[in-house]
Amino acid sequence: MNVTQAVRQRISTRAFLDTPISQEDLGDLLATAQRSPSGGNLQPWRTIAVAGAARDAVIEIANKVLLADPMAVVPQERPVYPDFKQIDPVYDVRRRRVGEMMYDTLGIPKEDKAARMAWFFRNYQFFGAPVGLFFIIDTRMGYGQWAHMGMYMQTIALLAEERGWGTCMQECWARLRVELHAHFGLSETDMLYSGMSIGCPDRSAPVNTLYAERAEPSEVVRFDGF
Ligand SMILES: Cc1cc2nc3c(=O)[nH]c(=O)nc-3n(C[C@H](O)[C@H](O)[C@H](O)COP(=O)(O)O)c2cc1C
Repeated sequence: MNVTQAVRQRISTRAFLDTPISQEDLGDLLATAQRSPSGGNLQPWRTIAVAGAARDAVIEIANKVLLADPMAVVPQERPVYPDFKQIDPVYDVRRRRVGEMMYDTLGIPKEDKAARMAWFFRNYQFFGAPVGLFFIIDTRMGYGQWAHMGMYMQTIALLAEERGWGTCMQECWARLRVELHAHFGLSETDMLYSGMSIGCPDRSAPVNTLYAERAEPSEVVRFDGF
């Protein structure tokens, strides 16, 4: 597989097989991902990988805190989304559009709030993936370093494609920042930025047919001097 293929075929995988991933294989991928670039080579990322009982333990935390209402807790510090009222409406349109596309593949209508909520809660079971990753950053890092964390995560996602695995980045885990901070024994200056499910995709699952739209390059790219 070449890089172009990996970029084109990567999707957010939201249904996985329970096929295990060994520490050795995951460790090999993460060692390669260390080659991700970062300003000043700070490498401002840290990863906690959970499988087996460690995975079950975080799922259990989510069950305790969010099962009744997965939307109940909203991270105040470094919120997941911008304030859509303050910015170009196109961003909110895109967010809503991909949400609708996803629920269409699942056959869950807008009115069925309970089914949508139940589906959203699958996030907190890693969509069935055998491994969850959590990305930790020092709160004293600036916007630049948060962007570099993103490069690292994308590198992981592309390397996963090469291995026939799938990933879903999951900022929804930020809702459990407080609980997971305590659970993992993180220091005062650590912040859990995002989670990621990783494993072998269930290719028969309709949700994995969702190929999210993108804006035309002409909407986001300006060529000067060509
Ligand atoms: C940092 C980050 C966090 C995300 N968090 C979630 C999440 O919590 N749950 C989820 O289902 N998808 C999540 N996504 C996936 C996005 O919804 C997805 O990337 C976007 O809709 C484009 O779809 P694609 O990844 O299939 O191309 C996240 C993506 C990123 C980059």
